[in-house]
Amino acid sequence: MMRCRKCGQRAVINMRHHRLALCEEHYLEWFIAQTQRAIEKYRMFRREHRILVAVSGGKDSLSLWDVLLQLGYEADGLYIGLGIDGGIGYSDVSLEKVRAFHERHPERTLHIVDMKETYGESIPDLARRTRRGRGKPCAVCGLVKRHIMNRVALEGGYFALATGHNLDDEAAVLFQNVLHWQTGYLARQAPVLEEGGGLARKVKPFCRFYEREVAAYALMRGIDYIYDECPYAVGAKTIYYKELLNQLELKSPGSKHQFYLQFLEARRRGLITFAGGQENVDLHPCERCGQPTTAPGLCAFCRLWEGQADGAAVQLL
Ligand code: AMP
Ligand code: FES
Ligand code: ZN
Ligand code: ZN
Repeated sequence: MMRCRKCGQRAVINMRHHRLALCEEHYLEWFIAQTQRAIEKYRMFRREHRILVAVSGGKDSLSLWDVLLQLGYEADGLYIGLGIDGGIGYSDVSLEKVRAFHERHPERTLHIVDMKETYGESIPDLARRTRRGRGKPCAVCGLVKRHIMNRVALEGGYFALATGHNLDDEAAVLFQNVLHWQTGYLARQAPVLEEGGGLARKVKPFCRFYEREVAAYALMRGIDYIYDECPYAVGAKTIYYKELLNQLELKSPGSKHQFYLQFLEARRRGLITFAGGQENVDLHPCERCGQPTTAPGLCAFCRLWEGQADGAAVQLL
């Protein structure tokens, strides 16, 4: 029997990469303390700041909201209704999970932005109608989510926007970016992106947790979440990269952690620099919504609605 390192009781989780086994009580304590350490280490935000947590209804973002509230942060939620069904009522079910969580914290605000109500079209509508979305709903979806998150964070006067990205997510994206040497993306992949130029500050407090650690936290805390992946994500490249990294992790525990954290560390020490990265890109405000864009005139989000009758509605937002 594996024993908890803190109290010697029966352990419920063994983290090989940390050489640490813990009982439920001490695991929850450890998880919350680790989150606080990440927030401090990367100088994400402080007690006096208001935080907006983007919640999808999945285990990561709901657990993040839960931990931030337990730590005493002023954290509100934002749910974006994408209108995805996929035969499993994906968006409806995820909204139910978010609402159920929020009912336990009525003192906090839950912002809900429904795409169809606000912009007249859902993700599947956009995927059908626009050239950009055809065959790749995930690309437009990413664009739309970033736009809405940014808008709500700025309009609500939040200090930072927090997302539930975990180590598995970050390592898979890093792997993809390295495989294609996408230096622009590599330059921007970080636990904290500073605010400025019309963009909200973005933070990822869970970026050092393995996915299974977050799942264990959600389970122990009795957080009900949507198990299904987005139906459009099935077969996505990042899922394949996650599998590859999991195989690597099986053979050598801790390699995912090292891959990501050594990247951050090397960059911090100036060993990796991206000349011609972020800073040199010529950004200016979109003529319609004001969010930064490299394109002349309208940003990619506003261009999605061009020529649409309800494009005018976007202008009013
Ligand atoms: P994903 O891109 O689906 O892996 O999600 C990454 C993070 O984005 C999640 O952990 C959430 O913080 C946020 N997110 C994803 N989908 C939504 C949504 N529909 N509404 C609000 N936040 C979301
Ligand atoms: Fe956006 Fe799947 S969550 S396409
Ligand atoms: Zn214990
Ligand atoms: Zn715009």
